[in-house]
Amino acid sequence: MSAPKRYTITSALPYTNGPIHIGHLAGVYVPADIYSRYLRITGNDVAFICGSDEHGAAIPMRAKKEGVSPQVIIDKYHAIIKKSFEDFGITFDNYSRTSAPIHHETASEFFKKLYEDGKFIEETSEQLYDAEADQFLADRFVTGTCPKCGNEEAYGDQCENCGSSLNATDLINPKSTISGAKPTLKQTKHWFLPLDQYEDFLREWVLVGHKKDWKTNVYGQIKSWVDDGLRPRAVTRDLDWGIPVPVEGAEGKVLYVWFDAPIGYISSTKEWADREGKDWEPYWKDKDTKLVHFIGKDNIVFHCIIFPSMLKAEGSYILPENVPANEFLNLEGNKLSTSKNWAVWLHEYLEDFPDKQDVLRYALTANAPETKDNDFTWKDFQDRNNNELVGNFGNFINRIVVLTNKYYDGVVPTPNEFSEVDLQTLTELRAYPGVISSSIERYRFREGSQELLNVSRLGNKYLADEEPWKLIKTDPERVKTIMYVGLQVAAALATLSEPFLPFTCKKLKSILCHSELDTASTWNDISTKEVLLPAGHQIGKAELLFSKIEDTDIQKQLDKLEATKKANEAENKTIEPQKETATFEDFTKMDLRIGTIVEAEKMPKAKKLLVLKVDTGINIRTIVSGIAEHFKPEDLIGKKVTVLVNLAPRKLRGVESEGMILMTETPNGKLVFLNPDEDGVNPGAVIS
Ligand code: MF3
Ligand code: ZN
Repeated sequence: MSAPKRYTITSALPYTNGPIHIGHLAGVYVPADIYSRYLRITGNDVAFICGSDEHGAAIPMRAKKEGVSPQVIIDKYHAIIKKSFEDFGITFDNYSRTSAPIHHETASEFFKKLYEDGKFIEETSEQLYDAEADQFLADRFVTGTCPKCGNEEAYGDQCENCGSSLNATDLINPKSTISGAKPTLKQTKHWFLPLDQYEDFLREWVLVGHKKDWKTNVYGQIKSWVDDGLRPRAVTRDLDWGIPVPVEGAEGKVLYVWFDAPIGYISSTKEWADREGKDWEPYWKDKDTKLVHFIGKDNIVFHCIIFPSMLKAEGSYILPENVPANEFLNLEGNKLSTSKNWAVWLHEYLEDFPDKQDVLRYALTANAPETKDNDFTWKDFQDRNNNELVGNFGNFINRIVVLTNKYYDGVVPTPNEFSEVDLQTLTELRAYPGVISSSIERYRFREGSQELLNVSRLGNKYLADEEPWKLIKTDPERVKTIMYVGLQVAAALATLSEPFLPFTCKKLKSILCHSELDTASTWNDISTKEVLLPAGHQIGKAELLFSKIEDTDIQKQLDKLEATKKANEAENKTIEPQKETATFEDFTKMDLRIGTIVEAEKMPKAKKLLVLKVDTGINIRTIVSGIAEHFKPEDLIGKKVTVLVNLAPRKLRGVESEGMILMTETPNGKLVFLNPDEDGVNPGAVIS
């Protein structure tokens, strides 16, 4: 364990265009939280920083789709995301948002400083433009073929397939995501950060300086970009959502979201320092501070090339010490996707498993995508809970606590002479803080989580070998020693579990009445102190730390995913082929009128049929319609509908129907009246 230090730990600011799911938690927030918690309890000075990223192009797009203002969207998801983090015990020292005034100010100042120091190139050039929508197209507003890997759905700033960072004009066959139009070119002025001028700096700093200590996936990506040669990159945009460019002659332009967002780490630190009465500057400017960015692999270019070049250009900032980016997590074999709803949303998980935050934290850590993409399966989740948390960790604690209560009314017994096995067990126990520290300090959180489970495994094995429950009749003095040793293992677990299983740690400490010890044992004490739980200390009653997850609970989750799959398939379901050509005369034969439903009742003994009286303007007539499973009769009164009034009358269950009400169907099979604007009514929906 290293000497105490100051740490600034950031985790990627989530976009507020949707809630967060297990992929976010596994890739970024749980590892960052484990790291931060560990550093705090080992005596370091930690600022763990995050906030919402509220200027992404996806936000106004979502707002448009939902027919509300962007502000409504960011307020809604900022609140949901912030609450999910709190619910899962992510201990940010500050969670800010990039719409906060302090951020607008900080980002503007940053831009102005670079501008005044002549760090930008100002250039008028031809950029992609959507004449139909009267908008310049960059970033998410344009897709096309990636010139590097051929992916046909690359965005204007990045290809998510190969990770390349792109300029919109690099795309082959670009297409506007607003109108679908082929863009034209139009002149516009922008400010560019000349990344080419930072190549030497980046080489020296990362490619030479961090060759040994950065993850190979991160290092490899950076190397390939730098080797490919970097080009100037626009840091302003022609958009109306974002931070206005704070210089003359930049009306109607905003900062590029990836210019302002990482500065959000700095603004959030300032907000925290103001609140805590601290100075923010050492956290960003003191050479002895360790700055660590936790991100997913799609963010590597921004955190390892662009942001460091910005910091370097500014001149007074430190650079990240490490960027332990993770790969992606998949869900049951498919890519997690917000738009396809292929996800386990954190707020929904908590509805189904209200007291199992630690179980998810653990399952995601034990299976974290640290070196390659990994798959989350509900079966693995269940197994990890039932076999590892319940069967190993929980079982050990339960045994030791129950037996201590049974034999000694919950008082830690005074040991007799230690046997060879006792001493060996205690020696092994003392090594664990060092072992787990080493995993965490090398960003190997999965390894760390497995070492933690090895501690309870050690305890279980010890009890199973020594069998105090057998000896209690024949050798009660020996049992005192055994229970004493076992209780030391339990006490160590209470401390070592904190970074990984914070809720469990709290519960376990309360069971062991840990806070009532004169000196509650800390991480480092485990290795150095003779005694963690002293003889005579009173512990509490047993309480289950974990509970079994049944097959039915898992089936419910799998069914939910199956339903999502079906809904997605239905959405893409093949459009019915066009019928044969109808002549104009054919068409004019149809007499279509607007009518009002004036009466509605169920057809007796027919599940699907309603008998309606419809005022067609011509007369009030009876129409039998097969919509009983979709509407309640009382909800239909007064409803205006489109009626084919000259359809040949026919009898349905003895009732003569004189006409047909036109309907269409949504992908999930719901019948709706003709209203093309209604949710779920898609192009191609047949009217019948
Ligand atoms: N919002 C971005 C994403 O979800 C991450 C922004 S990280 C920051 O991919 F550095 F820009 F803040
Ligand atoms: Zn590509």
